[in-house]
Amino acid sequence: MDKPIVRLEKVTRVYEEYGKKVIALREISLDIFPGEFVCIVGPSGSGKSTLLYCMGLLDRPTHGRIYVEGKDTSKLTGKEVADFRGKRMGFIFQNYNLIPRLSALENVMLPAIIAGKKPKEVKNKARQLLQNVGLSHRENHRSISLSCGEQQRVAIARALINDPVIILADEPTGALDSENSKEIMELLKGINETRKVAVVTVTHDQSISSYGDRIITIRDGTIVSDNYGNKC
Ligand SMILES: Nc1ncnc2c1ncn2[C@@H]1O[C@H](COP(=O)(O)OP(=O)(O)O)[C@@H](O)[C@H]1O
Ligand SMILES: [Mg+2]
Repeated sequence: MDKPIVRLEKVTRVYEEYGKKVIALREISLDIFPGEFVCIVGPSGSGKSTLLYCMGLLDRPTHGRIYVEGKDTSKLTGKEVADFRGKRMGFIFQNYNLIPRLSALENVMLPAIIAGKKPKEVKNKARQLLQNVGLSHRENHRSISLSCGEQQRVAIARALINDPVIILADEPTGALDSENSKEIMELLKGINETRKVAVVTVTHDQSISSYGDRIITIRDGTIVSDNYGNKC
C-alpha cells in the first residue's frame, strides 16, 4: 500500500483565549494517501479548518504527531516545514487570498518565485495553468477585477504551480453561488484525476461533500464517520 502523504496521530488542538480553553480537535488519527479525493464535512465550529491547517503544517497540534511522507514534523526545522509546505502542498482558501494588485498571471507565478525559481522559468507554466482553468483571456487582469469564481480559479492554478502532491482547500466554494461552486468542484475533481494529486477539501455543505470519493464527517473535534476503504 502507498505510504500516506500526511499522517495524523492522536492530534489534539486546544486554543486558549482569555484563560478559556477550547478543544478544537480531540485525538484525531487519520492518513491521507496519494491520489485520494477527500471531503471533510461538519457543522460550523466542528474543527474542520483547524484540522486542515494542522494537515497543511500551518498550525501545530497541542498534543499528538503529524508525519509528512513518513517524516515526523516535530523533528523538522522551520525551513524544512516551510519547504514541504511550499513545494509539496497547494492551498486554496474560501476568500482566495490572492494579491489584489498583482495580475492573475503574477499571482499564479508567485509560489514558484518564492520557491526560488526565476520569473522567466515559470511564466509559460503559469500561462498553461491559467489556460487549464479557462482564464487565458484574464492573464493580465489584476486579480481584484475578476469575478469571485474567476478568482478561485486563479487560486487553483496558483496551488498547482509547484506540482504539489496534495491540495488542501478550506471551504473553496464557501463564497460562491451554486453554479460557480459546481464548476470549482469539477475542476478540482478533474485535477485529481488527471494529475493524480491528492485533494482534501473541507466544507460545511453536504452537497459539496458528495464530490469526495472518501467522506470524513467531524463533529466537536472528533471523526464520527470515514468511508475510507468503503468507496463505490
Ligand atoms: N484562533 C482561535 N482561537 C480560539 N478559538 C479558536 C480559534 N480558531 C478556532 N477556534 C475555535 O475552535 C473551534 C473549531 O474551529 P474551526 O476549526 O474554525 O471550525 P470550522 O472550520 O469547522 O468552523 C471553534 O469552537 C472555534 O471557535
Ligand atoms: Mg472553517
